[in-house]
Amino acid sequence: MGRNKITGSTKIPQHIAIIMDGNGRWAKKRLMPRSFGHKKGMERMIGLMERAFDLGVSYVTVYALSTENLNRPEEELNGLYDLIRNHFEGYMERFYKKGVRLRIIGETHLLPADVQEIIKKVEQKTAHCIGKGVNVALCYGSRAELVRAVNMAIEKGERVTEDSLSSLLYTAGQPDPDLLIRTGREVRLSNFLLWQAAYAELYFSDKMFPEFSDKDLEKAVAWFSSRVRRFGKTDEQVANG
Ligand code: IPE
Ligand code: IPE
Ligand code: MG
Repeated sequence: MGRNKITGSTKIPQHIAIIMDGNGRWAKKRLMPRSFGHKKGMERMIGLMERAFDLGVSYVTVYALSTENLNRPEEELNGLYDLIRNHFEGYMERFYKKGVRLRIIGETHLLPADVQEIIKKVEQKTAHCIGKGVNVALCYGSRAELVRAVNMAIEKGERVTEDSLSSLLYTAGQPDPDLLIRTGREVRLSNFLLWQAAYAELYFSDKMFPEFSDKDLEKAVAWFSSRVRRFGKTDEQVANG
C-alpha cells in the first residue's frame, strides 16, 4: 500500500464511491450481448465490495443505474431488472452476515413493482446494521436528489444549511465519499453524488468494469493514501495537524 508523503501513514478511505462503467463495451469486445457484461459487472461488484470491507472501508456506494439510463432499450433494462430478481437477495445475504446495511438510493418508485418488493425486503432485513453500509444507486440522479432535498426543507418551512441539506440526502448520516473510482475510460461524473463528492479524490481507470480486479482496487486505495488532502490549507498546515 502507498504511504502518504506528509503523514507517513497508510490511509484507508472510509467511503468509496464507484461508477461501474464499461460493461457493454467489455461484452461487445467479446462478441457477447450487453446483458452478459452487466452480469459479469455485477459479480465483479460483489467481489470488490467484499475486498473493500476487508481493507477496512466502512461504506461503498455503487452507481448501478442512472435516471438517464432509463432511456436505454427496454430489453437491456429488463435484463438488468432480471439480474436483481435472480441474484440480489442471495448476494445481499453475504453482506447481511458481515453486518453491512444495504440501502437503495434513487427514485426507486420508477422500478417494476416486484423489483421494488425485493429491494424493500433486503433493506428491512439489514436495517439494524450500523457502522458499515452499501448504497446501490438505482434510478439515481444527483440533481434530482438535491431538488428532492430542497423541496423537503421547503415543505418543513426551513432554510437549508450545508449540514441540514446533507441530512436530507439519501446518504444522510454517512461520511462523504473520500475516494471516487470510475472505470471505463470516461472522465466524468454523469450526475453521481455531486454534493457528497465535493472533496473526494477522483480516480479514473481505463479498465472496463468487469476486468477491474481486486488488485486494481488496492492500487486505487494506495493511490488515495499517497494523496495530500489539504482541504484548502497549505502543506505546512497539514503536516502540523
Ligand atoms: C455501466 O456499463 C452499467 C450501466 C450503466 C448499467 P455500461 O452499460 O454503461 O457500459 P458501456 O459504457 O456501454 O460500455
Ligand atoms: C453512468 O454510466 C451510470 C452508471 C454507471 C450506472 P453511463 O455509461 O450511463 O454514463 P454516460 O451516460 O456515458 O456518461
Ligand atoms: Mg457507459
